[in-house]
Amino acid sequence: MEDKRLAVVTGGNRGIGFEICRQLALKGVEVILTSRNQDGGVKAVEKLNISGLTNVVFHQLDIKDPSSIACLAKFIETRFKKLDILVNNAAEVGIIIQDQEEFRTGGGFLQLVDERAEFLSHVVEELYESGEECLKTNYYATKTLTEALIPLLHVSKSPRIVNLTSMHGDLYWFHNDKVKEELQAIETLTEERIDDIIQRFLLDFKNGKLKENGWPLTLSAYKVSKATLNAYTRLLARKYKNIIVNCVHPGYVLTDMTSQTGFSTAEQGAKGPVKAALLPDDGPSGVCFYETEIAPFESPDLPLKIKHYFQGIKFLVL
Ligand SMILES: NC(=O)c1ccc[n+]([C@@H]2O[C@H](COP(=O)([O-])OP(=O)(O)OC[C@H]3O[C@@H](n4cnc5c(N)ncnc54)[C@H](OP(=O)(O)O)[C@@H]3O)[C@@H](O)[C@H]2O)c1
Repeated sequence: MEDKRLAVVTGGNRGIGFEICRQLALKGVEVILTSRNQDGGVKAVEKLNISGLTNVVFHQLDIKDPSSIACLAKFIETRFKKLDILVNNAAEVGIIIQDQEEFRTGGGFLQLVDERAEFLSHVVEELYESGEECLKTNYYATKTLTEALIPLLHVSKSPRIVNLTSMHGDLYWFHNDKVKEELQAIETLTEERIDDIIQRFLLDFKNGKLKENGWPLTLSAYKVSKATLNAYTRLLARKYKNIIVNCVHPGYVLTDMTSQTGFSTAEQGAKGPVKAALLPDDGPSGVCFYETEIAPFESPDLPLKIKHYFQGIKFLVL
């Protein structure tokens, strides 16, 4: 009989991450629910254990802290000897919402399009410092954690990596053709080149040159972080033929990140990531799922989709 599958989920204490843990556990996967906050993580595991899901354990993990990553890797190695599934869910959005009411009634995240950048400046604040932290978490820390756990994934018979992305990581938002081409040229793309793109973005952000150099003008750092994470996902899939590596946009989900705006619940949002985590051995690798369906990395119809949502905007209220 095959060993029980083991998954690590980052940011499992709340939102979509918590739901991914719950749904994986329901499918019989042994889950390590990780959280940077000990109390929040322990409480989340207790909640799942009390509901009958005794196959969930807690381990502290701050993905930005290399010693915390090393501690988790040691724990997995000692106790389980291998890892089957890594779900990189933890992220931050890099903006401060100044006016929650106007943000919600104005269309939530759907209004964060370049055409409205100036108008939105009193609703949403994007400081360089929070943008930099956003890139550190969503791209660099996710990459550091992944690299630390790859040796344990190599021990698994069917390893999977799932990176939570966003429709905001779609290359549609980028107006710099060179950057778009670089991120799409998967056969020649390198980690160094991705790093260079991020550093160029940060420099332009600091010097107020986002428009001049064709970067996204709203939710800028988050958009760059997810677009580069998508490229890294494809790069990993190219490099490790034995690991199925994909990214998943969970949909527009009611969580703290979205100030509880959205069209779906965390339970619905977790379905795509869970599907990607449990793909069969002949499943696709290096692709992007929009919820549960494969989608392009650059969607020409994105503005239409957003316009359509925007016109009929009716957020789900729990
Ligand atoms: N909600 C949506 O509509 C939506 C849409 C597209 C993509 N996504 C993506 O889906 C994922 C989950 O989003 P969500 O909406 O569930 O977000 P959320 O409710 O804001 O939860 C974010 C989680 O990430 C954790 N986190 C942040 N920085 C961390 C760090 N350095 N180390 C460890 N954990 C850290 C948070 O921990 P704390 O509790 O300690 O802060 C929290 O558990 C993210 O990757 C997000 O970009 C969400």
